[in-house]
Amino acid sequence: MKAAYITQPGAPESILFGELETPVPQSDQILVKINAVSVNPIDTYIRSGLIPMQLPNPFIVGCDFSGMVTSIGTQVTRFKIGDRVWGSNQGLLGRQGTFSEYAAVDEMFAYPIPESVADEDAAALALVGITAHLGLVQEARLQAGETLMVNGGAGGVGSVVIQMGKAIGARVIATAGNDERVERCLQLGADCAVNYRSNDVDPMLKEFAPEGVNVFWETSRVPDFHATIGRLAERGRMIVMAGRDATPEFPVGPFYVKGCRLHGFAMFKASSEEQQEAARDMNSWMSKGRLRSNISQRFPLSETAVAHRLQEDNTIKCAGTLAGKIVVTV
Ligand SMILES: NC(=O)c1ccc[n+]([C@@H]2O[C@H](COP(=O)([O-])OP(=O)(O)OC[C@H]3O[C@@H](n4cnc5c(N)ncnc54)[C@H](OP(=O)(O)O)[C@@H]3O)[C@@H](O)[C@H]2O)c1
Repeated sequence: MKAAYITQPGAPESILFGELETPVPQSDQILVKINAVSVNPIDTYIRSGLIPMQLPNPFIVGCDFSGMVTSIGTQVTRFKIGDRVWGSNQGLLGRQGTFSEYAAVDEMFAYPIPESVADEDAAALALVGITAHLGLVQEARLQAGETLMVNGGAGGVGSVVIQMGKAIGARVIATAGNDERVERCLQLGADCAVNYRSNDVDPMLKEFAPEGVNVFWETSRVPDFHATIGRLAERGRMIVMAGRDATPEFPVGPFYVKGCRLHGFAMFKASSEEQQEAARDMNSWMSKGRLRSNISQRFPLSETAVAHRLQEDNTIKCAGTLAGKIVVTV
């Protein structure tokens, strides 16, 4: 089968494109003929070695996938040949990745694709959707009628956080780094969106939520807790999930006196039950049109190295040339 893979960590250009053996599913695995995959920042950290992880060699890059089941292991109970499936959490903790014509996937990390949903949309929503659900539903327990602020609302995760916030019934304010992305946040359903580079965010926030926001979602890799804690309401909840090397100052007094809570998590450490719970809600919202993909660029599998360069330039160097997800079609 054709695959995009590395034999050692390195720059995007170290990704090779060529023939590898088609995997054989183990007893609890399904073999998926991959139709679409999407790129996430973590794919670039693993490929570059920024996050050292035990990798098979050769290592096929990528976490997300969508496609069709072509064979099943003897213990598989949830799927049959011909089912359309999506999933994430591959290419992590020793598991092989997904940027290939076929992938053998543990059935616990695969979910049915609703009939009305296209493969590329399911792939584009996979990791970012599970992440948004873990943060909003399972960590912060966002409630209808509450206010949610998303710092970086037009990015991969942020664009889903906005939509899930609205699907849950919250009022949502988002920030973005240019006017085009501010417009995108509004199209995704944000009630208010602000360009954080050209505007002072706080006066607009004060108008939107005079008492502060109930939940604050930080997507930036350099969180500013001085600014954020001031934006929280009494008993506000804050989510941090980016910036492994970040060591920002944390103003303890203003935080605990307001009775706030800080939630941090890594999607790939969530249990399969937690991820399945996220996938169930995502499938329901996707089939009702409440959750849509935010695809910015598409590449063929042979151009995975170009796709990784684009993702890395934007996530690490804040190039501003990407407003959403990169999908790779197989
Ligand atoms: N913990 C987990 O489980 C988990 C899961 C998924 C992702 N992540 C991490 O979360 C981060 C976001 O992932 P992603 O897929 O959404 O990446 P992305 O598409 O590259 O988005 C990054 C976002 O950060 C925003 N941003 C950057 N600097 C900012 C600043 N100073 N103020 C406000 N916003 C700022 C960007 O806004 P503009 O482009 O509009 O400036 C953009 O929306 C990455 O670091 C990723 O590694 C963690």
